[in-house]
Amino acid sequence: MDVRFEPSSGLHGELRAPADKSISHRAALLGAMASEPTRIENYLHAADTDSTLAAVQALGALVDERGGVITVRGTGLREARVPARPIDVGNAGTLLRLLPGWLAAQEGRSFTLDGDESIRRRPVDRVAEPLRFMGAAIDAREGRFAPMTIHGARLRSIAYELPVASAQIKSCVLLAALAADGATTVGEPARSRDHTERMLLSAGVNIHRNGKHVTVVNADELVLDRVVVPSDPSSAAFAIAAGVLVPGSRLLVRDVGANWTRTGFIRIVQRMRGIVLGDLEDESGELIAEEPICDLDVAHGALEGTFVEPDEVPLAIDELPLLALLGCFAEGETVVRGARELRVKESDRIATVVEGLRGLGADIDALEDGFAVTGTPRGARSGGLRGGTIDAAGDHRLAMMGAVAGLASREGVTVRGMEAAAVSYPDFVRDIKALAA
Ligand code: S3P
Repeated sequence: MDVRFEPSSGLHGELRAPADKSISHRAALLGAMASEPTRIENYLHAADTDSTLAAVQALGALVDERGGVITVRGTGLREARVPARPIDVGNAGTLLRLLPGWLAAQEGRSFTLDGDESIRRRPVDRVAEPLRFMGAAIDAREGRFAPMTIHGARLRSIAYELPVASAQIKSCVLLAALAADGATTVGEPARSRDHTERMLLSAGVNIHRNGKHVTVVNADELVLDRVVVPSDPSSAAFAIAAGVLVPGSRLLVRDVGANWTRTGFIRIVQRMRGIVLGDLEDESGELIAEEPICDLDVAHGALEGTFVEPDEVPLAIDELPLLALLGCFAEGETVVRGARELRVKESDRIATVVEGLRGLGADIDALEDGFAVTGTPRGARSGGLRGGTIDAAGDHRLAMMGAVAGLASREGVTVRGMEAAAVSYPDFVRDIKALAA
């Protein structure tokens, strides 16, 4: 589906972004692993998180929705049922990486996971390695890709240093650790999103963070009770970027997740002199269960280029395409390094972002582990971005970045494959056009 986004003369109004995708996946999974029913309020209904609901049902959890509240009746930690067919994770990388953690603990039973064409290009060896150390057996196509089969076993606890800062791998190990035979410690090279840790803490698990290490003690059961899912800062980021880029904009973004491990993008935009004001969570020494929320007040600012540090990368990982776009409008250079992970997202996001923005007139180069953009502020006659056509490459975040590029461009942008947005934000076109009207 082609959708055209004309240059905007200012975004105005209020936005309540859709529910958080990461937290929704985790709520459904932990709900399925729990012994008592879990009530989930504001669960995200999008392609990825619907795949998770279908998966947990195939594994024996009961899911029922009434008045916008989903109740998941779980099977318990060790009682997942073997489905008749392979589990289809669709396009959901988070489901593909987290679910094996639970399944590895199902002694004597085997489970196969498969997904769409893009999922079949995304590596799973990164979760297979720690699960093998814990005692499970894993088969994967070419040793690295879906379809993958997890043969559950009695698990050992381990101490594991993640080779990359990935919340998905960390979470997979933490879920497996619940059924292991003692305390498991996971270390990450840089802090990544910590929703799994927070939710396990609220489910009564003995879990601690010490700097970049998390230790979880095995558990007999999880009792989660109730999860209220906040709005997704990664989905809100598109409207925030549009508000910062288009002169005359003034937006209020309501009730968005303010968890420090998710707001790296906002801190970088503030450093670039974009105007985003709100009561964001500070980095805290201690693990807490709460997922804080805040309102954000957004307005246009004359942007300056910035260098994104490798430690900031996991805290803004899904927003890096938007930083490339902001860089096109910023004075000087914007450089992202240490982001090789972008190559194994829903598309190779270094290649697709660089190619896509170049096609709209950007001065951007791909680096092995990031990109470098030279911006021209809007005031200049040929400032910002010209516009044109961009192909979403089947990637939801690229489709939505293209839409924001159109609103901020001189000539407008046609996004080819806009339907990809439904993976995380089904009403995106409606919401962004309402703000830009
Ligand atoms: C996610 C973690 C990130 C992110 C993805 C969601 C999660 O992936 O890109 O969209 O929910 O844990 P990695 O952990 O692989 O970096």
